[in-house]
Amino acid sequence: MENVAVVGYGLSKFGERWEAGLKELVSEAAVAAINNAGIESKEIQSLFTGSMSSGRFANQEHLGALVADQLGLIPIPSVRVEAACASGGVAVRQAYIALASGAYDLALVVGVEKMTDVHVGHATTTLGTAGDYEWEVFHGATFPALYAMMARRHIHDFGTTEEQMALVSVKNHSNGSKNKFAQFQNLITVDAVLNSSVVASPLKLLDCSPITDGAAAIVLASEDLAKKLTDAPVWIAGSAQASDTLALHDRESLTSLKATRVAAEDAYKQANVTPGEIKLAEVHDCFSIAEILAIEDLGFFKKGVGGKSIEEGETQLNSKVSINTSGGLKACGHPVGATGVKQIVELTMQLRDEAGNRQVSNADIGLAHNVGGSGATAVVHILRR
Ligand code: COA
Repeated sequence: MENVAVVGYGLSKFGERWEAGLKELVSEAAVAAINNAGIESKEIQSLFTGSMSSGRFANQEHLGALVADQLGLIPIPSVRVEAACASGGVAVRQAYIALASGAYDLALVVGVEKMTDVHVGHATTTLGTAGDYEWEVFHGATFPALYAMMARRHIHDFGTTEEQMALVSVKNHSNGSKNKFAQFQNLITVDAVLNSSVVASPLKLLDCSPITDGAAAIVLASEDLAKKLTDAPVWIAGSAQASDTLALHDRESLTSLKATRVAAEDAYKQANVTPGEIKLAEVHDCFSIAEILAIEDLGFFKKGVGGKSIEEGETQLNSKVSINTSGGLKACGHPVGATGVKQIVELTMQLRDEAGNRQVSNADIGLAHNVGGSGATAVVHILRR
């Protein structure tokens, strides 16, 4: 297997981008990544685009060829990768595998979703198609409801509190306030979270990630080329993915995502590191409870003590493990197909000491965790400077 590094990154502004279409979002992020890598677009040999549901959100399918056309990359091979909210992370992994196998030396990965042009009811149902439609969504169990059930069980089994969940959102808004690309850059308080409107009890508006337009892009290169292109390659030390049942009722547990645990174990083994060595992680906080599940399932904290660890400040910027320095899905926003790529962008900025006032000191190893649906897909990447 060839070693593979991230050599360039770019983002569009995340948010309600009513003035920009899907193609403009792609261009914003991809052109920034190509410029950041210092390459010419004609050097790119292969293109991977993560997008969950461009057909339902933006009436546009066939994104592989569309993105190649938009970026002037015709006729290189180009594919769209779909794995619900993990589409971006899985696109990164597919590109990594293509380069590690020696098939290509230089690839561009784009993640994109244009979600706000449809009514929120349509957006919620579209997101729900990532669950088991027959057993869950048809009966009204949309994603906030599914994660609310996980939260209820975590509260029941471990005594996790709604205040602890609220602290996840407070921290992520604080990190997002330092990120000019984030959808929300305002600070919030625990009281504001607790008093925001109930979406699916115990989850309130400010426990939820928003509906977002946005795109992210990275340039990946094989070892020899990466060393020629940059003095600061960020190496992919581990790349792993696992699957689970779509329907919650078929799972072994409501308080742990097995796909996350399996993917993390594999990624740690590949990178030859332990969870304790990870300095920062971008984890999939689609709802506040999801961040608590993630930091436990990734092995940063024991099962059941995630909420307490957050209360004790152990996931703040420059604490034991800095979690979601970008603002996470909660504050940076969650354009579903872009999220997994944005996580790699954030880690790359951090590992190159380019994260400005949210820089983690001595950042040398970071982890990205991207989940599809309520946990049926999980992809974990470990990056090293
Ligand atoms: N966090 C903070 N503020 C939010 C927000 C969020 N998650 N969602 C919306 N807002 C704000 C809006 O900016 C708006 O503010 P304004 O009045 O100052 O402009 C206000 O709340 C109302 O926004 P609106 O778009 O009408 O909200 P909504 O009620 O239609 O949607 C949710 C809110 C929570 C239902 C929606 O964001 C949602 O479904 N989130 C979950 C997405 C999801 O499931 N993703 C996949 C996860 S697996």
